[in-house]
Amino acid sequence: MQQRLSRFSGEKILIADDEEVIVELATLLLKKRGFNVFNARNGQECLQMVSVHQPALVLLDYMMPVMNGLDALKQIRQHYPDTYVIMFTGKGSEEVAVEVMKAGAIDYLQKPFLSHSLQERIDNVLARRQIEMENRKLIQERELLQHEINEWNTELEKRVRQKSFELEQAHKEIIQSAKLASLGHISAGMAHEIRNPLNSISLFAQILLSADGIGTENRDYVERITQEVERIDSILVQMLASSRSDDKANHRINLTEIIHKVVTLSQPLIKAQQVELVLDLESPVPSIQADMLEMEQIFTNLISNALHEMPDGGRLEISLRSDAERLFVMISDSGPGIPQENIQRVFDPFFTTKEKGTGFGLSVVLRIINSCGGKIKVESTPGQGASFLLELPLLPESIH
Ligand SMILES: Nc1ncnc2c1ncn2[C@@H]1O[C@H](COP(=O)(O)OP(=O)(O)OP(=O)(O)O)[C@@H](O)[C@H]1O
Ligand SMILES: [Mg+2]
Repeated sequence: MQQRLSRFSGEKILIADDEEVIVELATLLLKKRGFNVFNARNGQECLQMVSVHQPALVLLDYMMPVMNGLDALKQIRQHYPDTYVIMFTGKGSEEVAVEVMKAGAIDYLQKPFLSHSLQERIDNVLARRQIEMENRKLIQERELLQHEINEWNTELEKRVRQKSFELEQAHKEIIQSAKLASLGHISAGMAHEIRNPLNSISLFAQILLSADGIGTENRDYVERITQEVERIDSILVQMLASSRSDDKANHRINLTEIIHKVVTLSQPLIKAQQVELVLDLESPVPSIQADMLEMEQIFTNLISNALHEMPDGGRLEISLRSDAERLFVMISDSGPGIPQENIQRVFDPFFTTKEKGTGFGLSVVLRIINSCGGKIKVESTPGQGASFLLELPLLPESIH
């Protein structure tokens, strides 16, 4: 009878058996069905053939010299997952059958076997192998896709986190400018209204002071009144400064010169408090566009805050450098620093921890920096001082 070709014809099958007759018979049979057949006479030879040809299927005898079938089976399953194995076992030994299946054989056939049952098993096993290999490929593809999805997810999460952070910052800045804007309206009006009667109080106090027979004790009181009036007036002046926005003159400013000027004015206090001053200022430095008085105000406020924190000595460090588009200024002190819970609030108008502070200093600094298109942030490790970091945009023609 003419044998039909298997639908898996062309697949490589290795027959590993030391029984000549079986090998010949099976070879004949499988070749007729179109398979590409190889032979091996023992386990070791079998492994060599598998490594060279990587067959789809091995028909492997359980009992063989040199290396027995079970050991060869284990090696094949371990190193060649795409090579499937049907074991030939002796008749009636069910334990062996269980053992080989456990060791990874895909099926077993008891000797002697019928040719059609061998062919049927081979076709079944090859069909199963085909499905399983496709499955494995799909799983691999899925894992690859999953991996890509995971990477994208991580990237996406990173971007969302970054954008959320930026949004949060922008939101804080909006709140801050809204606070400053409403402060501007209220304080400008209040300051004007209060300064007039204050001026009168001050004048009356002057008159009292120059009056005859005022007496030492009363003179003391009147002087205290004058001092307090002056204090209120200076608060009002700061309130006006913090709301001032339009009457400024924009000039080309050399920030290194400004810093030197403010530092010179602070020298007496720096000396008196025995503060070590470290200046690291780039010179020449590219210009920025700003109001001279406002720039002086920024450094006066920041330096005065820093010195206030170091009454018994410390280190005040001011550095200035530029890149292609901006100036970077850092003002650091070695004072007690700012507690974590206050960091968010130091730029708020009226926020102060000082008995005689107004809480305007930093809000003025922030308003000026914002109006120049710059940025300011503060970093502080409590116990190790505070650093104020400023970024100011360069004049377009200074940008190289
Ligand atoms: N260098 C610094 N080290 C530690 N805390 C600081 C520093 N600079 C500012 N602060 C904190 O920020 C608060 C607000 O500062 P800001 O300059 O706005 O107001 P102030 O200094 O309290 O008052 P004023 O400036 O009117 O004297 C301060 O009271 C202080 O608590
Ligand atoms: Mg201050």
